[in-house]
Amino acid sequence: MAGKITFTMIKPDAVKAGHTGAILAMINKAGFRIVAMKKTQLTKEKAGEFYKVHKKRPFYGELVDFMTSGPIIAAVLEKENAVEDYRTLIGSTNPKEAAKGTIRNKYAKSIGENAVHGADSDRNAKKEASFHFSAIEMF
Ligand code: RTP
Ligand code: MG
Repeated sequence: MAGKITFTMIKPDAVKAGHTGAILAMINKAGFRIVAMKKTQLTKEKAGEFYKVHKKRPFYGELVDFMTSGPIIAAVLEKENAVEDYRTLIGSTNPKEAAKGTIRNKYAKSIGENAVHGADSDRNAKKEASFHFSAIEMF
């Protein structure tokens, strides 16, 4: 059965461009409840750890530099079928391929600077939520 929790980050490009409020409004309108949320800036160490599955990929260094380049919004979201529905709301990794009306279609600049992160499985959603939040910060 699909889980009810996903994890997201509004990435430095979108925070810097002032899209935080509009993106949160889209998340809200799509029926997600905010379980936890904070504004923070990742250290190289934390970003490297978070994206370690991509360590061998050619864009890993660029990704870590980008994700530490400014503040992010990290959040845990709740909805039925959360992981899949949130991936639908954000659209494809490459904004050129992202469906019309998705968050990346509206706000992403490029395949690397693509406005938001969304967990890709129930297991990773739980792992990523507890990477950023302790149990007493989730409601
Ligand atoms: P995310 O994890 O951020 O939700 O993105 P995703 O699942 O759609 O994409 P993934 O394959 O997990 O890649 C993670 C992030 O790495 C950057 N990337 N850059 N330059 C490139 O070719 C490239 N490919 C991926 C993006 O920021 C992507 O979201
Ligand atoms: Mg991913």
